[in-house]
Amino acid sequence: MPALVLLGAQWGDEGKGKATDLLGGSVDYVVRYQGGNNAGHTVVVGDQKYALHLLPSGILSPGCTPVIGNGVVVDPSVLLSELSGLNERGVDTSKLLISGNAHIITPYNVTVDKVTERFLGKRKIGTTGRGIGPTYADKINRVGIRVQDLYDESILTQKVEAALDVKNQILTKLYNRRAIAVDQVVEELLGYAEQIEPYVADTVLILNQALEQDKVVLFEGGQGTLLDIDHGTYPFVTSSNPTAGGACTGAGVGPTKIGRVIGILKAYTTRVGAGPFPTELFDEDGEALRRIGGERGVTTGRDRRCGWFDAVIARYATRVNGLTDFFLTKLDVLTGWEQIPVCVAYEIDGKRVEELPYSQTDFHHAKPVYETLPGWSEDITKAKSFSDLPKNAQNYVKALEEMSGAPISAIGVGPGRDETIEINSFL
Ligand code: GDP
Ligand code: IMO
Ligand code: MG
Repeated sequence: MPALVLLGAQWGDEGKGKATDLLGGSVDYVVRYQGGNNAGHTVVVGDQKYALHLLPSGILSPGCTPVIGNGVVVDPSVLLSELSGLNERGVDTSKLLISGNAHIITPYNVTVDKVTERFLGKRKIGTTGRGIGPTYADKINRVGIRVQDLYDESILTQKVEAALDVKNQILTKLYNRRAIAVDQVVEELLGYAEQIEPYVADTVLILNQALEQDKVVLFEGGQGTLLDIDHGTYPFVTSSNPTAGGACTGAGVGPTKIGRVIGILKAYTTRVGAGPFPTELFDEDGEALRRIGGERGVTTGRDRRCGWFDAVIARYATRVNGLTDFFLTKLDVLTGWEQIPVCVAYEIDGKRVEELPYSQTDFHHAKPVYETLPGWSEDITKAKSFSDLPKNAQNYVKALEEMSGAPISAIGVGPGRDETIEINSFL
């Protein structure tokens, strides 16, 4: 069985955590391959609700080994508090594996994230303030600290010195902040080393061996396609590659091993933070989507911006990820609207455009061209099969599928594991 990738097809918060958890019981490994604790994945199991940030959603499935791949950035204090929070609730986390090559989010990277945003003022990105961008910047600048560095004090000290050399100049001279002491950072990081050590492993070798033995490996993306550093709405993006290719580099598994790429797609659209969003609503419909959909960020508590479904974006996600399937989530949230507008194309400077423009300026000018589909009022949260859905809900799903370019293989009708309609099996 080849590996599967499950990723966000929009701007994040599509319901990846729920979808991963649903498959978690049937797979051997669930692997995070990028991002860090900027993610907020809510998983509802029975009457229990879990908010995961750094840990793969597979951690809630007892038979599954959760893996933090080399492409992830790890805040050790968040890691340990998330683990102890789950342990207190009776979740066994002992199987977790963490790549020794994953980069560490240091306290100074969190500081730099926050001061940079403040300095940008109204041009800010609206980051989660978790140190994600500065940590990936250090990685690319070759002054990053990796998990394995926690086990060699002398190397760790040299690397922290190298990283702080320039940063302290910037912090003191540009941002008017106090310099950060090397010793203090080293001491803090060394304080985490012993507790993390049992989880550190050669995850690349383990995952490739598992695939050779026909084990099922699921890669769980954080964020979403439009937040990708290369393929998203740059500069209003995160600093990693949530798109499918990121699973290869972020876990050390070749593209020939990946058989299926599932895009998680919300039945409408949301976005957190700054940046263009053609179908954004500023009226009572937007307010209603936010209220009914519970669209409040689980990481930062910020209200999510809400808008109608955008098929141009879904088609783009199909293309850049090579999607084989969609998992459509939150269809239940749309119950009660008499008419549901869906964006089928954009109008840019008077011209109709069917595909996402590569030009940032054009995208900023994009106005949605809507087609309106008839809604439904029946409760759909108990639907177990496609035929249980009211005709208009079926037609809405079929229309989205046709516009988006890949089959919709599952539909979410509520936050719980069992509130899902499976159309084609993923495994
Ligand atoms: P993620 O970041 O992609 O994992 O998504 P989040 O967890 O941030 O946001 C999705 C929210 O929608 C969570 O609160 C989920 O519990 C919830 N959710 C997921 N699927 C469904 C669904 O099909 N219907 C409803 N009503 N809620 C859902
Ligand atoms: P999940 O995995 C939604 C957004 C931030 C900001 C931009 C950059 O729950 O879908 P960063 O802190 O990553 O440098 O912020 O990306 N962002 C997300 N938006 N869901 C997420 O994760 C996000 N992670 C980052 O709001 O606009
Ligand atoms: Mg989220």
